[in-house]
This record gives sequence, structure tokens and C-alpha cells, in this order.
Amino acid sequence: MSHEHDDHHEAPSFALEIPEFEYLRYEVDEGIAWVTFTRPKALNALAADVLREIAEVSEVIAEDPEVRVAVFTGEGKAFVAGADIGEISELKEVFVAREYSLGGQEVMNHIAALPLPTIAAINGYALGGGLELALACDLRVASNKAKLGLPEVGLGLIPGFGGTQRLPRLIGAGRAYDLILTARHVPAEEALQLGLLNRVADDVIAAARKLAQQIAKNSPVALALAKESLARGVDVPLPEALEIEADLFGMACTTKDMREGTSAFLEKRAPEFKGE
Ligand code: CAA
Repeated sequence: MSHEHDDHHEAPSFALEIPEFEYLRYEVDEGIAWVTFTRPKALNALAADVLREIAEVSEVIAEDPEVRVAVFTGEGKAFVAGADIGEISELKEVFVAREYSLGGQEVMNHIAALPLPTIAAINGYALGGGLELALACDLRVASNKAKLGLPEVGLGLIPGFGGTQRLPRLIGAGRAYDLILTARHVPAEEALQLGLLNRVADDVIAAARKLAQQIAKNSPVALALAKESLARGVDVPLPEALEIEADLFGMACTTKDMREGTSAFLEKRAPEFKGE
């Protein structure tokens, strides 16, 4: 055990351990965490090892005190072209395949449950498990060349990483039946009309950065509480959902960020949120 820092009188700092990733890159710039999938030769397909790294990077994001917003994107012509079809082709036993689906869902659930806003910056194909990953994010921005879809029925499969459930919750059942039963690839402009995307841009990275910066100006605690209220309210009846909102509104009013935000407004100055 080294004591090389004993002579210094620095404040003890919390050292975040970032694992070595093989299939993705993790960078933090001005409070924005960028997760870039780096397996373009396989169109960033989600092999088991990639899914494991996504679960790991989600933990890093959740623990990194510098991060206010996380953006997921891909290198090359795909965001993510789905789960790895080679691996899926080996699935035969119902229980093994069920576990495979549950495992993928868990990774998507990790992303959905992150206590900070997440953006999918869809640079190209977002198909199958790739669209399911984007659906687990809070917001979706796409390049105008992107194609989105759940093509699983064309492979004799069904979406298994949350697609049959998150898609209808986002865009409505009628539109979800259309996309899932036709297996078609939807161009970005149409996906925007369907409510599947929040923005379409020539430069998806610039658009995602702008959106992330707009979000990051706000109170991190309020962002986490707003996200929690939105997420928890979806699956419960309205009266119960409104109770959830009131509980979380109550919590927001106990925070330093709320004191700061309201004081700053009344004092006609910009707020300085500490996330407390
Ligand atoms: N799994 C494994 N490998 C994939 C892949 C995937 N999902 N998608 C693409 N690849 C591989 C290709 O096999 C090819 O590899 P080789 O160079 O070794 O041959 C490489 O990536 C490049 O792909 P293409 O040559 O096919 O590129 P293209 O430009 O001609 O076509 C595409 C692009 C239309 C996206 C096409 O690759 C495609 O249809 N991919 C599969 C999309 C798909 O069906 N996704 C759903 C997967 S199932 C799923 O996700 C289940 C779930 O819900 C959990």
C-alpha cells in the first residue's frame, strides 16, 4: 500500500474507478458523459460482452459526480443494429432464451433508472436491441439519415429487450403495432412525426450536445425528481400518479437547489445549483 500522498495536504478526493472498455468509449466533457459504441464493423451489435460493458458504464455514470447528463451514440453508420444475431441464433432452450431476454431487459432497465437525464444520439441504424436501448433513454435525437425499427419478426423473433412494452408506452399502441408487425425501417423524419424522436438534425452530435447543455443548466436534484415522477407515473392510475408527483414535489422543496433556484429568481440573478 503506497502512502505517497501523505505529505500533501490535499482534501481527500473520491477516485472513481473506470474500467477498461473494449466495445465503447466513455468521456466526460463539461458535465456531459458521452458513451460511444466502438464496434462499427459489426454495426455496434449488442453481443453479450457489449451488454456487460453497457451495464458497467451505467454504474460509472451513476457514480460519477461530474456527470449531469449522459449521451449514448455509435461510431460508423449505425447507432446499434440490434442484438447480436449470431449469438441469438444459438438460443434453443426456452429457459435459456428467456434468461437472455431478461438479461438484456435488465441492462436497458439500468439505463432507464439512471438518476440523471439520458439522450440517445442516433447517428445511423437503430434497429432491434439498438432501438430498445434508445427507448430506455429519456430523449432521442437522430441524424436525418438514421433508420429506426424493430425488425425482429422478420427473423422469427420478437423484440426482447423491452421493445414491445416501451414502444407503445412512448408512441401509442396503434403506431407500435404498425412498426413491430411490419418490421419496417422508419426514416428519421417519419420517426419524428410518430413521436419516436424528439429532434432530427444534420449534425446529431451537435444537436445532442445542445440539448444536453440546455438540460444541464437545471438543478440536478430537480432533474432526478422530475424524471422519477415521469417514470413512476406511467404505469399507475392517475390519482396514484398524482400522489407520486406530490410526494416528489414535497421532496424538491426540502433541497438546497430549490432554495437557490427560487432565491436566484427573486434576486434576478442566475442560479448556481450544487445538486444538493
Ligand atoms: N448482429 C450481428 N451482426 C450484425 C448485426 C446484428 N444485429 N447487424 C449487422 N451485423 C453485421 C453484419 O453481419 C455484417 O458483418 P460481416 O461484415 O462480417 O458480414 C456487418 O455487421 C455489416 O452489416 P451489413 O453488411 O449487413 O451492412 P448493410 O449496410 O448491408 O446493412 C443493416 C445494414 C440493414 C442494418 C443490416 O446489417 C441488418 O439488417 N442488420 C440486422 C438488423 C436486425 O435485424 N436487428 C435486430 C436484431 S435481433 C434483436 O435485436 C432482438 C432483440 O430485441 C433483443
